[in-house]
Amino acid sequence: MVQHEFISPQRETDLQRNGDANNELLSAQAHIWNSTFSFINSISLKCAVQLGIPDIIHQHVNQYHQPMTLHHLVNALPINPAKSQFIHRLMRILTHSGFFQKEKIGEEEGYSLTPSSKLLLKDNPLCQTPFLMLNLDPVSMNPWHHLSQWFQENSNVDGSTAFVTCHGKSPWELSGNEPRLNQLFNEAMICDSRLVSKLVIENCGDVFLGLNSMVDVAGGSGTMAKAMIDAFPGLKIIIVLDLPYVVDGLKSCDNLTFVGGNMFQAIPPADAIFLKWILHNWGDKECVQLLEKCKEAIPNKDNGGKVIIIDMVVMKDHQQERNNGTNIIDHEAKETQLFFDMEMMVLVAGIERNEEEWAKLFSEAGFNHYKITPLLGLRSLIELYYY
Ligand SMILES: C[S@@+](CC[C@H](N)C(=O)[O-])C[C@H]1O[C@@H](n2cnc3c(N)ncnc32)[C@H](O)[C@@H]1O
Repeated sequence: MVQHEFISPQRETDLQRNGDANNELLSAQAHIWNSTFSFINSISLKCAVQLGIPDIIHQHVNQYHQPMTLHHLVNALPINPAKSQFIHRLMRILTHSGFFQKEKIGEEEGYSLTPSSKLLLKDNPLCQTPFLMLNLDPVSMNPWHHLSQWFQENSNVDGSTAFVTCHGKSPWELSGNEPRLNQLFNEAMICDSRLVSKLVIENCGDVFLGLNSMVDVAGGSGTMAKAMIDAFPGLKIIIVLDLPYVVDGLKSCDNLTFVGGNMFQAIPPADAIFLKWILHNWGDKECVQLLEKCKEAIPNKDNGGKVIIIDMVVMKDHQQERNNGTNIIDHEAKETQLFFDMEMMVLVAGIERNEEEWAKLFSEAGFNHYKITPLLGLRSLIELYYY
């Protein structure tokens, strides 16, 4: 029999007297611990996806119409049976981080999926697993170990990144030489474009009304372009411009043409230029240069010309701090935007911009009107015109 002893009144008084100072010290340490181990959330999630846990739970729930017990899960997993005893710990942290939920089944408990893990299912047409696999691949993660070295080294600031410090090449150059990375990158872009095209078509269709032709600049393998051709019959011509190694071998069809080239050198003329997730990859100088090229390619506003941008508009601090910072959704949303900003800095010398920073770029490139539609979660659709 284990005995439980209560603390003495004297020790309780001592604890209360030293309480505030000690609490501050201990929460500071806990804060350091939490930040130190934040990567465990992402790596545990990657492990669960690699083991197929979301799909296995999904199949079970569909077949038996009830959550999956740990026992059934462990038996269904492609793991060494000697490691079965550890799975509940992986599931415990992923339940805590909101990827699985535990539900009662009679006397027992079982796991089911949450909206976030449903978005990681292989059969989900909007599956986001490729994005996770790209960003948690060692090629993307290793540069983080070179970040302080990059800050200290004597390299030219323009376009220099911790990615180059680590790999000796930019991601675009490396992807051109490594088919595995090129495929990983393209799949990540395709999965995002599937989700964004659905939202753009459902929520922002009016933006594309009246357009006859459009160039999807750096449009990758054309997922957005194909979805928009199907959704907007008025769009008779879409050109997808991207680097030659990206579009080589992609089949053009009636309304859709793939063109290999360098967007900083030439952009084919059209009613509209579409730039999804492009400007955040580049520094201000390159963005102004690219926007100037876009402006040359389109007519003015009165003649129906516009640039359509999909990118983040980083929230202002007061947007996040309303409710005294107690609004967890806002806190997490802002943190995610700041994660993206750091990711852009480390990988491609890019920037996530707030509205003021966007407005400055637009004006420097000669545009005099813009409209932001914040209908895409952490990202917005921005229309850009000149008179
Ligand atoms: C972040 S991806 C976005 C792809 C696509 N717009 C999407 O959202 O799915 C950036 C794209 O820029 C392309 N890119 C990089 N440099 C380029 C250049 N100089 N000219 C044309 N495309 C370029 C890359 O090949 C890649 O497809």
